Amino acid sequence: MCGIVGAVGFISPKEYVFKGLKMLDYRGYDSAGIAYIDNGIKIYKDVGSVEHLLTIVPETINSNIMIGHTRWATHGAPTKLNTHPHLSFHKRICMVHNGVIENYKELKSFLKEKGYSFYGETDTEVVANLIDYYYLENGNILETIKRVMGLLKGSYALSIFTDDDDQTLYVAKKASPLVIGLGKGFNLVASDASPMIEYTNEFIELDDFEFGAVTKDKVVIYNKDGEEVKKEAIQKDVELISHDLKGYPHYMIKEIEEIPQTVKRLISFYFQKNKFLFDPELIKDLKESDHIIFIACGTSYHAGLVGGRYFEKYDKSASRFIASEWAFHPTYPGKKPFIIMISQSGETADLIHCLNIIKEHNLKNLIITNTGGSTLDRNCMYSLLLHSGVEVSVASTKAYVAQVTLLALLAAALDKDTKVIDDLTQALDVVYDIQYHYKPLIMKVADELKDKKNIFYLGRSFDYFLSLEASLKLKEISYIHSEAIPGGELKHGPIALIEKGIPVIVFITDPVTASSMRGNIEEVKTRGAKVYTIATKSLSRPEDTIMVEDYAYYLSSVAVSSIAFYLAYYVALAKGLNVDKPRNLAKSVTVE
Ligand code: F6R
Repeated sequence: MCGIVGAVGFISPKEYVFKGLKMLDYRGYDSAGIAYIDNGIKIYKDVGSVEHLLTIVPETINSNIMIGHTRWATHGAPTKLNTHPHLSFHKRICMVHNGVIENYKELKSFLKEKGYSFYGETDTEVVANLIDYYYLENGNILETIKRVMGLLKGSYALSIFTDDDDQTLYVAKKASPLVIGLGKGFNLVASDASPMIEYTNEFIELDDFEFGAVTKDKVVIYNKDGEEVKKEAIQKDVELISHDLKGYPHYMIKEIEEIPQTVKRLISFYFQKNKFLFDPELIKDLKESDHIIFIACGTSYHAGLVGGRYFEKYDKSASRFIASEWAFHPTYPGKKPFIIMISQSGETADLIHCLNIIKEHNLKNLIITNTGGSTLDRNCMYSLLLHSGVEVSVASTKAYVAQVTLLALLAAALDKDTKVIDDLTQALDVVYDIQYHYKPLIMKVADELKDKKNIFYLGRSFDYFLSLEASLKLKEISYIHSEAIPGGELKHGPIALIEKGIPVIVFITDPVTASSMRGNIEEVKTRGAKVYTIATKSLSRPEDTIMVEDYAYYLSSVAVSSIAFYLAYYVALAKGLNVDKPRNLAKSVTVE
């Protein structure tokens, strides 16, 4: 949600800012804008795409400094006036913002009393004016930013310049990501490292309550007391943050096809020479805890449902919570709970809210994330990275499989149970099989489903958890209403919805529940449903739609999730939808 880019120095700021905005568009946005100084502050912004923005800006821009922004509307409708960058009342402060200022109404009233008026409805415009107000009072911009940060409640990553200085970008951060890229004779700013990799592989990540000044050859960062902090520059792996489509038409299909290499890479990070390579302290803390609490949102929550089972297999009791539920009614079963949070982006606001509570209660915690340097990575007690490479498509695929794989490895590590490696290898053979042999068949099914209004997924146990994920993926990119139902729950209500022609997709890969699932198939067939069954060979029947080789059934989410992902992809494609950027959704959900 909301992407920030900024540049100061001799490289063409326009080239970087526009490339950067494109790179960040995976985060989701509805409007975009840029600002720079060339005989005064110039701002170009509008509702719509970055491509559209490019058509309204001057071809040649002579400026040493530029900021850009993609906005995902929170406060105020997506209109041209509400689009960032924002300019203060006295036209001195120009800035972009990612985050939400919770007390903006009080601050706005204060400023109105001081004679300020506003052209839009955003919280960002209020911050720009607050800086304007104190800057006029004291004439020291860094002092002003420090003071304003002390007044703001909520989250923010800010990139700012003033009308009287085209050599300095100012930055500030709390609970929204901001990274500085270090160049030779120029410096860059962005919401994450990906837009900057073409120009540098050295980065400084701001921590909460830090602010600073960035010029073309210097970066100075201060803490909330205004003391200078020495920040270590870190190097990032270009390969892992590259946004190259590598010849694929969409990121989603590219990322589905990267699942095998993702799983293999993950195994090599956490298991070598017949040994698990997790931090021994983490394993000790997990073993000593008497209850594991999984907290996550969306797809990551679905991975947590699976992970809970993995830990139960090794005699750990576990509960699973949706972050936005737990945050308002936190419970901590057990005397020594250990919290495992899961987040592809590492920036999900609902989870950051949970982390604050977890820290207040001094609870041991771990984040499983794909994003090194993210807020959760830096602030959790332990962090395990997924090493999946950047996931651009809004619909998470390879990161979900990586989350499940990592949870399987971690749980097995508690008991040094190395069989998990053979099981994962066998599951990967199934993934390859699906990639090489089943796509035409899945496309055919997608064509039959594309005009349907409702679709049901059925499964039990691990197949139910997979059904939840399959259903979420379908609805988010194809806009078809879909529900996942545990087979046994059908007759407790949902069966009332089954009517002639309704598609029901059934997973049967668990030997314990297979015969009950066959019973469920009969129940829906008798009521006219069109059933598509995905089964493992030893549990299959000739009439099934897809039969895959047998695998250790607890790995359904690794072995056959790609069937669900391809299906969602091909349905969305058949409907002519924007597969990688579904409406209303953002890759990184940085507001609650
Ligand atoms: C769906 C999807 C979302 C995310 C959710 C949490 O494909 O990607 O449901 O899983 O928004 O995001 P993270 O994992 O970044 O915390």
